[in-house]
Amino acid sequence: MASLVGAYAASHGPLLIREWQAIPDDQRRRVATAFRELGRMISVAKPDVIVEIAPDHWSNFFLDNYPAVCLGVGEASEGPPEPWMKEFPHRTIAGHPGLAMHLADQAMRQGFEPAVSHRLKLDHGSCIPLWRMELARLPKIVPMLVNSIEPPMPSLGRCYQWGALLRKAIDNYAEPLRVAILGTGGLSHSIGEPTMGTILEDFDRETLRLFNRPHDELVHFLEAKLPASGNGSEEVRNWLVAHGAAGGRGFELVDYLPVPTVIVGCGFGVGGASGASHGHRVDGWELASRDSGASGNRTPLLRLATSRRSRRTLLACPPPIRATTGFHPCALKWCCRPWTPQGWRSWSRTSREDSCSAGTRSA
Ligand SMILES: [Fe+2]
Repeated sequence: MASLVGAYAASHGPLLIREWQAIPDDQRRRVATAFRELGRMISVAKPDVIVEIAPDHWSNFFLDNYPAVCLGVGEASEGPPEPWMKEFPHRTIAGHPGLAMHLADQAMRQGFEPAVSHRLKLDHGSCIPLWRMELARLPKIVPMLVNSIEPPMPSLGRCYQWGALLRKAIDNYAEPLRVAILGTGGLSHSIGEPTMGTILEDFDRETLRLFNRPHDELVHFLEAKLPASGNGSEEVRNWLVAHGAAGGRGFELVDYLPVPTVIVGCGFGVGGASGASHGHRVDGWELASRDSGASGNRTPLLRLATSRRSRRTLLACPPPIRATTGFHPCALKWCCRPWTPQGWRSWSRTSREDSCSAGTRSA
C-alpha cells in the first residue's frame, strides 16, 4: 500500500526568481535557507511521488473554463510556460497516471468531482518551489490545481476536506509508493489591485498561529479576513489541503519576514508538533522529522514558505472581461513585459483603469 511520507507547503512568488538578487542579502539568505531546508526534508522522506497542490495562473485555464480543482492524470506535464522560468531544469515533468487516476476515482466516489487533465502546464506556482528547494532528484509529480485565482473559489473548508480525502486515497492505493504532499502559495500579498504591495504582517502571523488550532478556527478566521487581505492571500487554500492531508496537525513558525522587495510577507513554519503530543498515528512525517535534525527541532512535519508574486505590465487588456469579473485578468497573464513592484504600484494608483480602457500600456 502507498503511504504519506510528508506534507509540506512552500512559496511560489515569481519575484523569487525574477527579482532574487534585488532582495536584501539577509532576507534572501533566510528565504533560501528555508527552501533548502524544505528540500532537504523532502529528500530525507524519499517520496516516489509528490502530489503538488498549486493554483493555475491562467496557464491552462481562463475565464471560459476554470475548474475548481483539476488533477493532472497524464504521463507527464509540461514545464513552466513563463519566459523568465526558462532556466528551470525540467521542460517535462513526469507524472504518475496510476496514482492520479486513483485519486480522481476516489474523489468521484465521495462526491468531490474534480476535473482531470492528461496534459497540463506546470507554471511558476508549481515549479518555483521545486526549483528553489534544490532537489537532487525530482520525484514524479501529480499536479492538483486548485482555483485560488478567480472567483468563485473552492471554500476553505472544502480545501481542508480535500486534504483528508487525499490522505485516505493515498493510504488505500495498492502500489507501495511513498507519497508526499506539497501545497504552494501565499501569505499575504496583493496583486493588480489598489492594495498591491501591501503586506499584512498581523494577518500572516495570526494565520500561522491558527494552523496550530482546530481547523475550524482557522477556517472561520480566514473566511472573515481573506476578503480584505489581498487577492494573493487566497492561495492559502493550498496550505489547507496539505494541512488536511496531515490531519490538521498544524504548523510551528520557524521564521517570518515581510519582504517589501517581493511584496509579500514571507513566513516559514514547521508543522505537526501536535501530531505526537496528541497521540496521532506515527507515520513517515515523524520519520522524516527524526532524520532531519534541523535547527534543533525534532518535529518538523510541515514546513511553509510563503509566497509573493510579481506581475507584468499590461499591453492589451480586454475591457469586457474586466467588466464581467471586476478584476483585471491581464494582471495575472504572462504575455507582457516585466514590471517592477515600484512601477506597478505607481501605475495601479494612478492610471490603471485608463490604461485598461485604452487597451494598451507601456512601461
Ligand atoms: Fe500564485
